[in-house]
Parts: sequence; C-alpha cells; structure tokens
Amino acid sequence: MTRYSRFWTRLANVPAIVKLILIVNPVLYLFYGTRFNGFNYAVVTVEDNSLPRPANVYCRGCTIKDLQIIMGDDICYTYREQDTDLLVLLFTTHQNVEARNALRETWLSDSNDGPEGRIRHAFLIGRSNNHTLETLIQEENDIHNDIVQGDFVDSYYNLTTKTMLGLKWFRTRCPNAKYILKTDDDVYVNIPGLKDLISTYSHLLETSVAGTCFLNITPDRNVNSKWYVSEEEYPKKTYPGYCSGTGYLLSANAANQIAAVSATVPYFYLEDVYIGFCVSKLGYKFTVLPGFHSATSRPIDCRYKSESVVTSHRIAPDIQRKIWNMPCSVSYFYHYLM
Ligand SMILES: *[C@@H]1O[C@H](CO)[C@@H](O)[C@H](O)[C@H]1NC(C)=O
Ligand SMILES: *[C@@H]1O[C@H](CO)[C@@H](O)[C@H](O)[C@H]1NC(C)=O
Repeated sequence: MTRYSRFWTRLANVPAIVKLILIVNPVLYLFYGTRFNGFNYAVVTVEDNSLPRPANVYCRGCTIKDLQIIMGDDICYTYREQDTDLLVLLFTTHQNVEARNALRETWLSDSNDGPEGRIRHAFLIGRSNNHTLETLIQEENDIHNDIVQGDFVDSYYNLTTKTMLGLKWFRTRCPNAKYILKTDDDVYVNIPGLKDLISTYSHLLETSVAGTCFLNITPDRNVNSKWYVSEEEYPKKTYPGYCSGTGYLLSANAANQIAAVSATVPYFYLEDVYIGFCVSKLGYKFTVLPGFHSATSRPIDCRYKSESVVTSHRIAPDIQRKIWNMPCSVSYFYHYLM
C-alpha cells in the first residue's frame, strides 16, 4: 500500500460531516475570508473641532433648560403606523454629509420601510454660525426628513446638550419608541444583531444603560487631553460608570427616567459620563452587551453580519458600503462551524 492510498483509506473512516467541514471551510475562507480582510479606514469626526475649548467648560450647578427643537418634528410619524420598536439617534455635524449618506444607503436603510421595519432614525445636530452650512442642512432635511436640530452651538463641549436634545425629542416627538440606541455617524451597527440583543436583554434594559461599559475609570487630569476634566469640575477619584457614547442602548423607561433626573444633575461635557451620573443617581446599572465595540473591531469581515459585531467604531463611509455589500450568508454559516 502506498502512502497515498493509506491516506485515502484513513479518510474513508472519517465521518462525512467532518470531511465536509474540513474541505468546505478552507474553500469558503479562501473565497470569502481573504477578500474582506484588511480594509483601510479613515477617521471621521462627529463634532466640529474647529471651535476651541472654552476658557471654562465647567459651570457650577448648571442644568440644561428650555432646549428648543428647531427641525425634525414629524420624522417619527411619517411612515405607516406610529409605533416604533427602535429609535436610532445619531450624533452628527453639518460637514458630515458623506457619512450620513453612507448610513442612509446601508444599515439605516433597514429603518422606515426596510425589512427590519418599525425602526426610526434621526441625526442630531446643533447650529452652525456658517450660513451656507445651515442652508445645506435645511436642504438635506427637505430631502430625507431625518435631521433633528436643536437651538445650541454645535460643538464638542456641547455634546451633552445634544444628548438631551435627543431625549427631549424622543419624549415629545417619538414617545412610542420602545428602545433607543444612541450612536455616532462613524459607527457601523448590525441591526438584526441588535434586535436579537434587545429581546435577550429586555429585562435588564428596563433599569440600565447598556453597551461597552466601564466602571471605576479615573478622570483624565492631563490638561492637554481632549477629555481633560479639572478637579474643580469633578473632584472624585473615579466616575461611577459609563457606557461608551459610540453606542449605548436604553429602554424607553430608562430614557424617560434619565431625562427626568437630568434636571437635578449638573452639566458635564462628556456626554456618556454624564449619562452615567444620571444612571448612577437613579440606582440603575451598567450592562455590558456582547458584540458592542467602542473601537474598530478587526478584522472587518463576515463577523460584521454575525452576533460578534453589533457596533464597531470609526468606519469610514466607503467601508460602510463595502461591509453592507459583503456576500456573507455562506460565511455566516462558516462562522458558526468554527
Ligand atoms: C462655510 O461652509 C462652506 C461649506 O463647507 C465653506 O466652503 C465656507 O468656507 C464656510 N465659510 C466660513 C466663513 O467658514
Ligand atoms: C453651547 O451652546 C450654547 C448655546 O448655543 C452656546 O452659548 C455655547 O457657547 C456653546 N458652547 C460651546 C463650548 O460651544
């Protein structure tokens, strides 16, 4: 017997299903896996960084009052019945039109009339003092009807105001939404994966904020840091906890309670940490969800269509489109075999 035929005799004893996996997997991997690895990505900023840090971002005891909504009244009621299972609120800024369009063409197309149904989305924005940009936003909204604008200057140090805009808009213009995802315009979201998580975690979500969450994080005391927080602004050694602003999930109850308690929680410019203050004051929890990534989850491949990746950060518009167009049904199966 030659070595060669011994191999085939041994192989004959291996169960058929194992043979199938051994042979099919490398073929699928070659075909699908390698084609979608190693995308380059570009960083997209979701706020206007051109405005300098104000002399003092700290305002003792300030809370947000009388926030005016100046655009986006009827988004929630434009399509079919009024019920909304999931409301996706996205931070954006005037210049990021390319990012917004990429999301509208890709994972946001599951909202409104898409197969996932009963999902609404709204881009949240403040005001720009550039008149051209204000006109362009108005025109963009005339076409898409998915922009909610608040009467405050769009700036990194006003992001907490943007969150409060989103919560106020939910309470007054989309009050039937059952769940809210707050995210950014440079985040990929796997909507079917998210819906699975919502049904699995629905009980916990009633009294928590959920996503990529951290406890006992020390405030950044480096004065040159983008996230610098002075002792005066926040004297304690650690934050109570927060879930990354790149993607956090709230039930309607949690969102309503947070909005209510925020009237007694002084303004703090790091919006996700601020939500953490509110959550902590309510005695609610921080729930870590599998598949939520506050950085870019790598490699960018068919994991993006499985439960492994529900959110992934810093995904440029062209990569959003590539992910959306990846043919993954077979590979998705492959993912479960491994
Ligand atoms: C306003 O925005 C437009 C469009 O981005 C830009 O071309 C223009 O230079 C801006 N004007 C000012 C005064 O910054
Ligand atoms: C935040 O918005 C308010 C209201 O428009 C404005 O007065 C303030 O200057 C803004 N803050 C920053 C840091 O841009």
